Amino acid sequence: MLNNSPFSPASPEAQAITHLFIFVGIVILAIFVLVATLVLYAVIRFRHRPDGAEPRQVFGNSRLEKTWTIGALLTVAVICIFAIRTMHEADASPRPGEKPNLVIVAHQWWWEARYPESSVVTADEIHIPVGKPWLVELKSADVIHDWWVPDLGRKMDAIPGHPNHFWIQADKPGTYLGTCAEYCGAQHAWMRIRVIAEPEAEFKTWEQQQLEVPPIPVSGEAAAGSKLFNDLTCVNCHTVAGTPAQADIGPDLTHVASRETLAAGRLKDTPENLGKWISNPQAYKPGAHMPDFNLNPAQVQELVAYLETLK
Ligand code: CUA
Repeated sequence: MLNNSPFSPASPEAQAITHLFIFVGIVILAIFVLVATLVLYAVIRFRHRPDGAEPRQVFGNSRLEKTWTIGALLTVAVICIFAIRTMHEADASPRPGEKPNLVIVAHQWWWEARYPESSVVTADEIHIPVGKPWLVELKSADVIHDWWVPDLGRKMDAIPGHPNHFWIQADKPGTYLGTCAEYCGAQHAWMRIRVIAEPEAEFKTWEQQQLEVPPIPVSGEAAAGSKLFNDLTCVNCHTVAGTPAQADIGPDLTHVASRETLAAGRLKDTPENLGKWISNPQAYKPGAHMPDFNLNPAQVQELVAYLETLK
């Protein structure tokens, strides 16, 4: 799960970076030991003596100077070769015209995820099949954000008007946590990422479930909530498949009740928290673009009843 240690890579890309990190660390340690030993030797060997005699004065030694100049150049050259190799392994260029498996759009302050092949759209919780290298196209809808999932070794800026690409892959099933790593405004801290890596069959099941169009409730509180949802202008920002709500300003809510968290990780996705969030979003994410509609408790209850049908 979440290790957040450079020594526990969970993808081939993270592993390549870890190997380089360890290699460079060993080189640095060797240089430190060498320099520290020589300094200590000089301090002890040439320390002030009671007889006060000056040691022999030396001005330059061309053989030594050549050795450490060439030695340093070779060391940097070797590190450079390993670094270039790592860059190819960790950030291979997609083939020209290669279609992304996943399009991620960063918003203030949540992540939109689009699966072009299946046309699934979701938010904040990104499901991927385990063990497969997926090409991600990363975009921004507003300001610069930064996609960062440490265990998978993935960190990339989302720049408005300039899509970036990276590969994502997880060796083992699990939930890999991440966050936005570029200050992007008031709620930068609540722009969390969950990458959920599943075996192929489970991933397919999830995808099928995401493609289902939830039935529109016809009676009870849920039906009243469904009507409220359309009347209160929720539809101006959100999408719910099979309804007039088809906007993409805010997260797609077609399957909101099947997610683990709300508001990009700010709250656990429970009916109670959903009620708290829609009755006063600004209390949980001050500055968020979700307005406070000053709903009364009955309206909140109806909306929650409706949204909970969106599994
Ligand atoms: Cu998005 Cu910081």
